[in-house]
Amino acid sequence: MDNSRMERIRSAAQSVAERLEGRVPLVGIVLGSGLGDLADKIKDPVVIPYNTIPGFPVSTAVGHKGNFIAGKLAGKCVIAMQGRFHYYEGYPMELLALPIRVMKLLGIQYLFVSNAAGGANPDFKIGDMVIIKDHINNLPNPLIGQNLEEFGPRFPDLTCAYDLELQEKAMQLGMKLGLDLKKGVYFASSGPTYETPAEVRFYRTVGADMLGMSTVPEVIVARHCGLKVFGVSVITNVANVANEQQTYNDADDVVAQAGLITDKMCKLFTELIKKL
Ligand code: HPA
Repeated sequence: MDNSRMERIRSAAQSVAERLEGRVPLVGIVLGSGLGDLADKIKDPVVIPYNTIPGFPVSTAVGHKGNFIAGKLAGKCVIAMQGRFHYYEGYPMELLALPIRVMKLLGIQYLFVSNAAGGANPDFKIGDMVIIKDHINNLPNPLIGQNLEEFGPRFPDLTCAYDLELQEKAMQLGMKLGLDLKKGVYFASSGPTYETPAEVRFYRTVGADMLGMSTVPEVIVARHCGLKVFGVSVITNVANVANEQQTYNDADDVVAQAGLITDKMCKLFTELIKKL
């Protein structure tokens, strides 16, 4: 059983590697809803549609395309996921883990993740960029099942899941670039429903600053295989804490709001990658 799981990862990695023609990416980048534009900034891009990779699912989420894009960003070799997979789409966790493990086999040492998130922290406003300093996982753990020893240990530590040095460098860059960055704890639940006001109040109480439906599975898989992780949430809506008729969440608004912040996020990622 283990062999077939490894085989699936290896054959997907091999299929991508053949198209990279010797390039070894240093950074893997996961682009969240409405944040796919960073992929357009990648120089000399090689575009690899997920549907041409053996064993890959096809992303169905709003605001997500389905490609790996490899090339140069800030003079470094990167590979970006333009479109990610979500648990709410019905994929097993094993498939959410697959692209991260494929990028690991291709040689990445860092994983940069981004997402659109609801603001649970009352200090956060729409348009804020928040560095993820920790998470609370309310999804199934992607490492459940027989451990793939080749990638990492049975019981990985998550004390510093989000690399402290990268957070510090990003804060410094944020000040230099005038980005007004904040820091917060990302709370992941399955979706696809947005939270009820009662849930928002509950999640706030337990320490959530941002609410989302992604990112944590990829980060857990990345930490399992020793990648250094940096994450940013873009606040696209402020989570509702009262049951009022005039407040509601809308996926098209989320994508549109994220799109407005893409430029700033691209700048932060690019400048941070320059410093690696
Ligand atoms: N909740 C969960 N996921 C989200 C939200 C939200 O309010 N906004 C964007 N993704």
